[in-house]
Amino acid sequence: MSVAADDECSATAAVGASHVARVSSEQHTARAYDLLAERYAEVWFGRPSVPLAERFLQYVPAGSRVLDVGCGPGQYTRYFRSCGRVAMGVDISQKTVAGAMTRCDAKVFARMTMTNLAFSDGVFRGVWACASLPHISSAGVGGALDEFRRVLEPGGVLFANVPLGEGHRIESPDEFGLSGSYGRFFERYSDARSFLSVLEASGFEAVDSWTDVVRSEVLVRRSFVTTSWLNVIARCRAHASG
Ligand SMILES: C[S@@+](CC[C@H](N)C(=O)[O-])C[C@H]1O[C@@H](n2cnc3c(N)ncnc32)[C@H](O)[C@@H]1O
Repeated sequence: MSVAADDECSATAAVGASHVARVSSEQHTARAYDLLAERYAEVWFGRPSVPLAERFLQYVPAGSRVLDVGCGPGQYTRYFRSCGRVAMGVDISQKTVAGAMTRCDAKVFARMTMTNLAFSDGVFRGVWACASLPHISSAGVGGALDEFRRVLEPGGVLFANVPLGEGHRIESPDEFGLSGSYGRFFERYSDARSFLSVLEASGFEAVDSWTDVVRSEVLVRRSFVTTSWLNVIARCRAHASG
Protein backbone atom coordinates (compact mmCIF):
# COMPACT_ATOMS: atom_id res chain seq x y z
CA MET A 1 0.00 0.00 0.00
CA SER A 2 1.34 3.42 -0.86
CA VAL A 3 1.65 6.25 1.60
CA ALA A 4 0.61 9.64 0.25
CA ALA A 5 0.82 13.02 1.86
CA ASP A 6 -2.58 14.58 2.46
CA ASP A 7 -2.09 17.26 -0.15
CA GLU A 8 -1.11 14.81 -2.86
CA CYS A 9 -4.70 13.57 -2.89
CA SER A 10 -6.19 17.01 -3.05
CA ALA A 11 -7.90 18.08 -6.22
CA THR A 12 -9.11 21.37 -4.92
CA ALA A 13 -6.95 23.78 -6.87
CA ALA A 14 -8.88 23.43 -10.09
CA VAL A 15 -12.39 23.80 -8.74
CA GLY A 16 -14.41 26.99 -8.38
CA ALA A 17 -16.64 28.40 -5.64
CA SER A 18 -19.89 26.94 -6.99
CA HIS A 19 -18.31 23.51 -7.14
CA VAL A 20 -17.10 23.89 -3.56
CA ALA A 21 -20.61 24.90 -2.48
CA ARG A 22 -22.02 21.79 -4.13
CA VAL A 23 -19.54 19.27 -2.74
CA SER A 24 -19.74 20.77 0.75
CA SER A 25 -23.56 20.57 0.70
CA GLU A 26 -25.32 18.21 3.07
CA GLN A 27 -26.90 16.35 0.14
CA HIS A 28 -23.50 15.63 -1.39
CA THR A 29 -22.04 14.51 1.95
CA ALA A 30 -25.02 12.25 2.67
CA ARG A 31 -24.74 10.65 -0.75
CA ALA A 32 -20.97 10.13 -0.40
CA TYR A 33 -21.43 8.39 2.96
CA ASP A 34 -24.34 6.33 1.64
CA LEU A 35 -21.89 4.99 -0.93
CA LEU A 36 -19.14 4.51 1.66
CA ALA A 37 -21.22 3.18 4.56
CA GLU A 38 -20.20 -0.48 4.39
CA ARG A 39 -16.55 0.14 3.67
CA TYR A 40 -16.33 2.79 6.39
CA ALA A 41 -17.82 0.39 8.93
CA GLU A 42 -15.44 -2.37 7.86
CA VAL A 43 -12.45 -0.11 8.54
CA TRP A 44 -13.59 1.84 11.61
CA PHE A 45 -16.38 0.11 13.53
CA GLY A 46 -14.08 -2.18 15.50
CA ARG A 47 -11.59 0.58 16.26
CA PRO A 48 -12.92 3.33 18.51
CA SER A 49 -9.98 5.37 19.82
CA VAL A 50 -10.22 4.57 23.51
CA PRO A 51 -7.65 7.20 24.60
CA LEU A 52 -9.62 9.89 22.76
CA ALA A 53 -12.95 8.75 24.18
CA GLU A 54 -11.60 8.43 27.72
CA ARG A 55 -10.19 11.95 27.65
CA PHE A 56 -13.70 13.23 26.86
CA LEU A 57 -15.44 10.98 29.39
CA GLN A 58 -13.47 12.60 32.22
CA TYR A 59 -15.81 15.56 31.75
CA VAL A 60 -18.99 13.53 31.37
CA PRO A 61 -20.00 11.65 34.52
CA ALA A 62 -21.55 8.19 34.39
CA GLY A 63 -25.29 8.32 33.82
CA SER A 64 -25.22 11.53 31.80
CA ARG A 65 -26.53 11.98 28.28
CA VAL A 66 -24.14 12.15 25.35
CA LEU A 67 -24.91 12.92 21.70
CA ASP A 68 -22.57 11.34 19.13
CA VAL A 69 -22.88 13.72 16.17
CA GLY A 70 -21.95 12.23 12.80
CA CYS A 71 -21.81 8.87 14.54
CA GLY A 72 -20.81 6.85 11.46
CA PRO A 73 -21.02 3.10 12.16
CA GLY A 74 -21.75 3.75 15.83
CA GLN A 75 -18.49 2.64 17.45
CA TYR A 76 -18.35 5.58 19.89
CA THR A 77 -22.06 5.48 20.74
CA ARG A 78 -21.56 1.82 21.61
CA TYR A 79 -18.40 2.53 23.59
CA PHE A 80 -19.99 5.35 25.60
CA ARG A 81 -22.99 3.14 26.42
CA SER A 82 -20.64 0.37 27.53
CA CYS A 83 -19.07 2.98 29.88
CA GLY A 84 -22.42 3.82 31.50
CA ARG A 85 -23.33 6.94 29.56
CA VAL A 86 -26.75 7.41 27.98
CA ALA A 87 -25.45 7.87 24.46
CA MET A 88 -27.33 8.36 21.19
CA GLY A 89 -25.94 8.67 17.68
CA VAL A 90 -27.13 10.80 14.78
CA ASP A 91 -25.83 10.91 11.23
CA ILE A 92 -26.87 12.49 7.96
CA SER A 93 -26.36 9.34 5.88
CA GLN A 94 -29.35 7.03 5.74
CA LYS A 95 -27.24 3.95 4.94
CA THR A 96 -24.78 4.78 7.70
CA VAL A 97 -27.57 5.06 10.25
CA ALA A 98 -29.17 1.83 9.00
CA GLY A 99 -25.83 0.05 9.46
CA ALA A 100 -25.34 1.43 12.97
CA MET A 101 -28.84 0.23 13.86
CA THR A 102 -27.98 -3.32 12.87
CA ARG A 103 -24.65 -3.30 14.72
CA CYS A 104 -25.82 -1.72 17.96
CA ASP A 105 -29.12 -0.97 19.67
CA ALA A 106 -31.38 0.35 16.88
CA LYS A 107 -33.35 2.63 19.22
CA VAL A 108 -30.41 4.89 19.93
CA PHE A 109 -29.71 6.04 16.35
CA ALA A 110 -31.47 8.51 14.12
CA ARG A 111 -30.93 10.21 10.79
CA MET A 112 -30.40 13.89 11.39
CA THR A 113 -28.16 16.74 10.37
CA MET A 114 -25.94 18.42 12.91
CA THR A 115 -27.13 21.79 11.64
CA ASN A 116 -30.70 21.07 12.76
CA LEU A 117 -30.79 18.72 15.73
CA ALA A 118 -34.25 17.48 16.68
CA PHE A 119 -33.66 17.73 20.43
CA SER A 120 -34.84 20.16 23.06
CA ASP A 121 -32.49 22.75 24.51
CA GLY A 122 -30.01 21.72 27.18
CA VAL A 123 -30.64 17.96 27.21
CA PHE A 124 -27.08 16.65 26.79
CA ARG A 125 -24.11 16.77 29.12
CA GLY A 126 -21.75 16.02 26.26
CA VAL A 127 -21.61 16.35 22.48
CA TRP A 128 -19.05 14.17 20.70
CA ALA A 129 -18.26 15.23 17.13
CA CYS A 130 -15.43 12.97 16.01
CA ALA A 131 -14.25 13.63 12.45
CA SER A 132 -17.68 14.96 11.48
CA LEU A 133 -17.41 18.76 11.82
CA PRO A 134 -14.87 19.06 8.93
CA HIS A 135 -17.69 18.13 6.54
CA ILE A 136 -19.21 21.52 7.27
CA SER A 137 -17.60 24.43 5.42
CA SER A 138 -16.25 27.46 7.26
CA ALA A 139 -19.39 29.33 6.14
CA GLY A 140 -21.64 26.85 7.97
CA VAL A 141 -19.59 25.77 10.97
CA GLY A 142 -20.99 28.49 13.24
CA GLY A 143 -24.52 27.16 12.62
CA ALA A 144 -23.51 23.63 13.62
CA LEU A 145 -21.72 24.88 16.75
CA ASP A 146 -24.78 26.93 17.70
CA GLU A 147 -26.83 23.73 17.54
CA PHE A 148 -24.29 21.86 19.70
CA ARG A 149 -24.43 24.64 22.25
CA ARG A 150 -28.22 24.77 22.19
CA VAL A 151 -28.62 21.05 22.99
CA LEU A 152 -25.91 21.14 25.68
CA GLU A 153 -26.79 21.95 29.24
CA PRO A 154 -24.95 25.01 30.64
CA GLY A 155 -21.42 23.91 31.42
CA GLY A 156 -21.80 20.89 29.11
CA VAL A 157 -18.82 19.71 27.13
CA LEU A 158 -18.07 19.37 23.42
CA PHE A 159 -15.42 17.19 21.83
CA ALA A 160 -14.63 18.16 18.25
CA ASN A 161 -11.67 17.45 16.04
CA VAL A 162 -10.62 18.95 12.72
CA PRO A 163 -7.76 18.41 10.28
CA LEU A 164 -5.02 21.01 10.14
CA GLY A 165 -3.94 22.34 6.75
CA GLU A 166 -4.42 25.14 4.30
CA GLY A 167 -7.93 25.47 2.88
CA HIS A 168 -10.36 22.68 2.25
CA ARG A 169 -9.70 19.31 0.70
CA ILE A 170 -12.03 17.51 -1.70
CA GLU A 171 -11.53 13.88 -2.62
CA SER A 172 -10.90 13.58 -6.34
CA PRO A 173 -13.03 11.19 -8.46
CA ASP A 174 -9.98 8.90 -8.67
CA GLU A 175 -9.54 8.89 -4.92
CA PHE A 176 -13.25 8.53 -4.14
CA GLY A 177 -13.71 6.00 -6.87
CA LEU A 178 -17.26 4.88 -6.29
CA SER A 179 -19.29 6.98 -8.67
CA GLY A 180 -16.82 8.78 -10.90
CA SER A 181 -17.60 12.03 -9.12
CA TYR A 182 -15.91 14.10 -6.47
CA GLY A 183 -16.02 12.60 -2.99
CA ARG A 184 -16.05 14.13 0.46
CA PHE A 185 -15.37 17.73 1.41
CA PHE A 186 -13.11 18.44 4.41
CA GLU A 187 -12.69 21.90 5.90
CA ARG A 188 -9.18 22.33 7.28
CA TYR A 189 -7.89 24.90 9.74
CA SER A 190 -4.51 26.54 9.33
CA ASP A 191 -3.58 26.20 13.01
CA ALA A 192 -5.03 25.58 16.44
CA ARG A 193 -5.76 29.26 17.00
CA SER A 194 -7.99 29.50 13.92
CA PHE A 195 -10.27 26.69 15.12
CA LEU A 196 -10.23 27.78 18.77
CA SER A 197 -11.41 31.24 17.76
CA VAL A 198 -14.33 29.72 15.84
CA LEU A 199 -15.28 27.78 18.98
CA GLU A 200 -14.96 30.89 21.14
CA ALA A 201 -17.17 32.90 18.78
CA SER A 202 -19.86 30.23 19.27
CA GLY A 203 -19.71 30.34 23.06
CA PHE A 204 -17.24 27.53 23.83
CA GLU A 205 -14.17 27.74 25.98
CA ALA A 206 -11.43 25.15 25.37
CA VAL A 207 -10.46 23.17 28.46
CA ASP A 208 -8.09 20.77 26.68
CA SER A 209 -6.58 20.61 23.20
CA TRP A 210 -3.91 18.51 21.57
CA THR A 211 -2.75 17.37 18.14
CA ASP A 212 -2.55 13.80 16.85
CA VAL A 213 -0.95 12.66 13.63
CA VAL A 214 -3.29 10.06 12.19
CA ARG A 215 -2.44 7.65 9.40
CA SER A 216 -5.75 6.61 7.96
CA GLU A 217 -6.89 4.58 5.02
CA VAL A 218 -8.35 6.25 1.95
CA LEU A 219 -11.44 4.11 1.91
CA VAL A 220 -11.85 3.28 -1.73
CA ARG A 221 -8.36 3.57 -3.15
CA ARG A 222 -7.01 1.68 -0.15
CA SER A 223 -3.88 3.76 0.18
CA PHE A 224 -3.11 5.86 3.24
CA VAL A 225 -3.02 9.54 4.08
CA THR A 226 -1.28 11.11 7.04
CA THR A 227 -3.09 14.06 8.56
CA SER A 228 -2.61 16.19 11.67
CA TRP A 229 -5.84 16.46 13.64
CA LEU A 230 -6.51 19.06 16.26
CA ASN A 231 -8.65 17.66 19.09
CA VAL A 232 -10.49 20.04 21.39
CA ILE A 233 -12.60 19.56 24.49
CA ALA A 234 -14.53 22.75 25.14
CA ARG A 235 -16.99 23.81 27.77
CA CYS A 236 -20.18 25.57 26.82
CA ARG A 237 -20.42 29.00 28.43
CA ALA A 238 -23.69 29.82 30.18
CA HIS A 239 -26.42 31.01 27.79
CA ALA A 240 -27.32 34.69 27.97
CA SER A 241 -30.56 35.12 29.90
CA GLY A 242 -33.71 36.60 28.40
C1 LIG B 1 -15.41 10.69 8.95
S1 LIG B 1 -16.98 10.08 9.43
C2 LIG B 1 -16.79 9.94 11.20
C3 LIG B 1 -17.68 8.87 11.77
C4 LIG B 1 -17.44 8.59 13.24
N1 LIG B 1 -17.74 9.76 14.05
C5 LIG B 1 -16.02 8.16 13.47
O1 LIG B 1 -15.31 8.82 14.24
O2 LIG B 1 -15.60 7.16 12.86
C6 LIG B 1 -18.01 11.52 9.34
C7 LIG B 1 -19.47 11.22 9.61
O3 LIG B 1 -20.16 12.46 9.73
C8 LIG B 1 -21.41 12.33 9.07
N2 LIG B 1 -21.87 13.69 8.71
C9 LIG B 1 -21.33 14.53 7.80
N3 LIG B 1 -22.03 15.67 7.73
C10 LIG B 1 -23.04 15.56 8.63
C11 LIG B 1 -24.11 16.41 9.02
N4 LIG B 1 -24.31 17.61 8.47
N5 LIG B 1 -24.93 15.98 10.01
C12 LIG B 1 -24.77 14.75 10.56
N6 LIG B 1 -23.79 13.89 10.20
C13 LIG B 1 -22.93 14.29 9.25
C14 LIG B 1 -21.12 11.45 7.89
O4 LIG B 1 -22.28 10.88 7.31
C15 LIG B 1 -20.15 10.44 8.49
O5 LIG B 1 -20.81 9.32 8.99
